[in-house]
Amino acid sequence: MSQSAFYRCEKTPWTRVRRCLCFWMLLLTVGTFMLTFYVSSLNLSWLLTSNTPEDISPEDLSVYFVSYPSQYSITVDEPHRCLQERPFLVLMIPVAPNNREARDTIRNTWGKETTVLGKVVSHYFLLGMSKEEDGTESIKEQVLEESRRHHDILQSDFLDSYNNLTIKTMVMFEWLSSHCPNTSFAMKIDSDMFLNVRNLVDMLWKAPRHLYMTGMLASGASVLRDHTSKWFLPVSVFPENYFPPYALGLGYVFSLDLPKRILEASAHVKAIYIEDAYVGLCMRHLGIVLTDPPRGDLFQGMVPDETSNCYWTSVITTILKNSDQLSLVWRVYQSQDGC
Ligand SMILES: *[C@@H]1O[C@H](CO)[C@@H](O)[C@H](O)[C@H]1NC(C)=O
Ligand SMILES: *[C@@H]1O[C@H](CO)[C@@H](O)[C@H](O)[C@H]1NC(C)=O
Repeated sequence: MSQSAFYRCEKTPWTRVRRCLCFWMLLLTVGTFMLTFYVSSLNLSWLLTSNTPEDISPEDLSVYFVSYPSQYSITVDEPHRCLQERPFLVLMIPVAPNNREARDTIRNTWGKETTVLGKVVSHYFLLGMSKEEDGTESIKEQVLEESRRHHDILQSDFLDSYNNLTIKTMVMFEWLSSHCPNTSFAMKIDSDMFLNVRNLVDMLWKAPRHLYMTGMLASGASVLRDHTSKWFLPVSVFPENYFPPYALGLGYVFSLDLPKRILEASAHVKAIYIEDAYVGLCMRHLGIVLTDPPRGDLFQGMVPDETSNCYWTSVITTILKNSDQLSLVWRVYQSQDGC
């Protein structure tokens, strides 16, 4: 359309007037197009279809907000270890204070691998404060004793709960950015995961060292509006219908220039308790695109029904049912030596 309009524009008399008209018509068209695009990008559909029970009282809503994370401090620390050891990779494992069993299983399985392909790898467990009903005093003692023995505990002074995982994640980024100046990568990994450290180091050896994050990526994930869901978010807390792309919190890897950036972004992005999606929101704020893993099958969801002889040597992570399964699987993994 515009081409023929321009053509006629040039050929008729009163060229200047017509040219002027053509110019304004073009401007109007482009303007309308841009406005339409802008409005649709605001994602206003939630205004029309409120599928949330908005009869939730303000007190109930408060659990979906998390307080700004930077006010917490580390009470059980390893202040110099990372600086001295200068690991290539640090594994950060969130775990509840009373879950000693999970920590011991990891110490006896993938946490034991401290030199891999010539690179130093170290791990730390991230704990909040235990709940009253878990017997706070005795757990406190146990954690201190465990810390003295293994030097792999970081505990911070917020209540350890599911809805406080965003705080835990932000405390992790704070600790990494201030304690590991000479470390290339970190991984946040849950305690019920199988981890093939060798494959991970091999992948990272070839990975970019800057603004890099990978793992099991979710894109176009819906925000859940069913208030019985574990991941329910009311519209009033988070109005968008979809999360931006993010790496599932089960296990994601990042270069160590990111923690500082994510913390800076977090000052501008309202916190939600779904911690991995929140990191995705911070990444979007920063304009940093997540990287797909080099192979789609490296970060696995469930254990497949039939695992081939070389399954455990071919993946980086797989979600397991519990710590017991990790001990079992680890033995199988070690027997797959010839793969
Ligand atoms: C999160 O931690 C803070 C600080 O300890 C606590 O006041 C709050 O109740 C916790 N929130 C949840 C949902 O556990
Ligand atoms: C990190 O390593 C580099 C090169 O080995 C060194 O020059 C630098 O001083 C180290 N930084 C810290 C804070 O140790």
